[in-house]
Amino acid sequence: MSLALELEGLEKRYGEFAAVKGIDLSVERGEIFGFLGPNGAGKTTTIRMIAGILEPTAGTVRVGGRDMARDPAGAKARIGYIPDRPFLYEKLSGGEFLRFVAALWGHQGPRVEERVDRFLELFSLTPWKDELIDSYSHGMRQKLLISSALIHDPELIVVDEPMVGLDPRSARILKDLLASFVERGGTVFLSTHTLEVAEALCHRLAIIAHGEIIARGTMAELRHQADAGGAHLEEIFLKVTGGDEVADLMDSLRGVLEG
Ligand SMILES: Nc1ncnc2c1ncn2[C@@H]1O[C@H](COP(=O)(O)OP(=O)(O)O)[C@@H](O)[C@H]1O
Ligand SMILES: [Mg+2]
Repeated sequence: MSLALELEGLEKRYGEFAAVKGIDLSVERGEIFGFLGPNGAGKTTTIRMIAGILEPTAGTVRVGGRDMARDPAGAKARIGYIPDRPFLYEKLSGGEFLRFVAALWGHQGPRVEERVDRFLELFSLTPWKDELIDSYSHGMRQKLLISSALIHDPELIVVDEPMVGLDPRSARILKDLLASFVERGGTVFLSTHTLEVAEALCHRLAIIAHGEIIARGTMAELRHQADAGGAHLEEIFLKVTGGDEVADLMDSLRGVLEG
């Protein structure tokens, strides 16, 4: 059986600047894989290439064995992408938006309506089903976005900075949702600079800094690599990313705490 996600020599350049410098990565089915790194490390750039909305300068993305460059429709249909900067149609209601996204994937009819209602119920959005997204709070938009990424029944969920802006209850629902998704054979790839999220959720991790993977493995393996037996992930992260990234990381953490 094919891997859930394979990246080979994945690279993105903007002129002279290399945002992502030749990443090789394999994610097995049923894994929650964490992509951890400070601001500007190249997480969003990598994820946008995985989602097929940013063209790599070099390298390959394969989703469930489907090559993103050769079979974009096949690869994309297997992915549910939850972006860090959501775009929602303000003048649609929540229900209309979910139906619209389902229709884009070619799904229509009573089964879709059932799924729409199920997600709205799960995120306590049922009373808002017919209200315009215009009037939704940030957290409600986030929840709608998560629902829209799952509406076409993808095999792989790709999440960019998932917990930002979610209230504790919704963060908990998202965690449970991801956990039950992988229990049923799905796969999750998530980027975060929140160490607690990575540590609590992920089976395996890769740490990215300056567009390169500098460490990878299970928590136990990362501990070994950092030669920091028994250390908390935060210490490992600080140890392997070193000097200037620590300042960046602290800025990001402060941003998260204040935001
Ligand atoms: N369109 C772009 N043009 C030029 N540089 C970019 C562009 N998009 C991202 N970058 C740069 O690429 C690097 C990685 O960015 P990004 O992938 O957003 O990092 P992260 O998500 O890890 O914070 C950053 O230095 C960023 O400024
Ligand atoms: Mg980012």
